[in-house]
Amino acid sequence: MDGLSFRALRVNEENNGTFTRRVVDLHEQDLLPGGVLVRVLYSSLNYKDALSASGNKGVTRRYPHTPGIDAAGVVESGAVDGFHPGDTVLIKHAEFGANTPGGFSQYAGVPSDWLMRMPEGLSARTSMAYGTAGLTAALSVHKLREQGVTPAAGNILVTGATGGVGSVAVALLAKLGYQVTAATGKPQAGQWLSGLGASVVIHRDDIDSQTGKALLPVRWAGVVDTVGGNYLSAALRSAQYGGVVTCCGNAASPALSMTVYPFILRGVSLLGIDIAHISRRLCEFLWAQLAGDWRLNRIESLARECSLDDLDAEIDRTLRGEQTGRLIVNPWA
Ligand SMILES: NC(=O)c1ccc[n+]([C@@H]2O[C@H](COP(=O)([O-])OP(=O)(O)OC[C@H]3O[C@@H](n4cnc5c(N)ncnc54)[C@H](OP(=O)(O)O)[C@@H]3O)[C@@H](O)[C@H]2O)c1
Repeated sequence: MDGLSFRALRVNEENNGTFTRRVVDLHEQDLLPGGVLVRVLYSSLNYKDALSASGNKGVTRRYPHTPGIDAAGVVESGAVDGFHPGDTVLIKHAEFGANTPGGFSQYAGVPSDWLMRMPEGLSARTSMAYGTAGLTAALSVHKLREQGVTPAAGNILVTGATGGVGSVAVALLAKLGYQVTAATGKPQAGQWLSGLGASVVIHRDDIDSQTGKALLPVRWAGVVDTVGGNYLSAALRSAQYGGVVTCCGNAASPALSMTVYPFILRGVSLLGIDIAHISRRLCEFLWAQLAGDWRLNRIESLARECSLDDLDAEIDRTLRGEQTGRLIVNPWA
């Protein structure tokens, strides 16, 4: 498409080693060469985007860079590999928005095998209300169920409960009939979490045991942990016999200090969650669940919308752990 010009958020590495963010005008040559051109209708802000947008080289190796690991949009270029102009698609690849230009942009160019058809029943906007965070929550819940954690097994703890992964996990688990305890650092969000379906809301200090004991009194049949550190350690030490703990995040800390006793004396399982590299088949299954049986009728009420111009401040809020729920990015607003 000759003369394509579009707006995108650009992160620059300055000479003094700092990182700055600006909305700029880009052109077709700034897209991944040879890709399918997608008009991005919506993206979403995930924790990983905030890391990418603040110079975390573990996420993004080279700058200038356009973050945005999520995008839902419409195919603009000619028919390729079964996709046609006008098809509504999701973009899904571990490198998208991490080490290639991402979704904080009005256009994206990606290889055709990075495209997924929009699951039936989901609009581009609703898909981004879930986004990668919602898909990660779905994978965590799926893993608990695969391991036989049923609603009858007992309480499920969700940490970082007001965050993107946490809030969707609370709502999904409640929809599926689980008793959910939501742990948060935002006491003011108690009513909001109850509205999502949490049976009990506790302050995260309540699970941040500093006793160093190898085993704590049992509290949880299952845990969806999004924060890591001592919260994860304490959750493992207070999981009941045969309890299952999923671990996807490190918003508090990447460290994990504990003994092996929860595993060898209580048969507790720790399951790692990595949404970026799941198979296409599992990815399609999880999206189909979110569009179908697991659909959250109030998913849109969990999300706010922002523009590219708002992103600078919203990224800082994410890095300070201040977000509540999901943030949809509208690059045309
Ligand atoms: N492994 C994967 O595939 C995968 C996929 C998606 C996300 N993640 C990871 O999952 C985590 C959550 O992602 P997200 O998108 O949900 O992020 P988010 O929306 O920014 O939410 C993070 C939440 O964690 C809590 N938190 C923040 N700082 C904390 C601290 N210092 N101590 C304790 N709790 C803190 C806060 O919730 P409260 O105030 O309610 O406590 C915050 O809202 C991130 O570490 C992200 O990298 C991993």
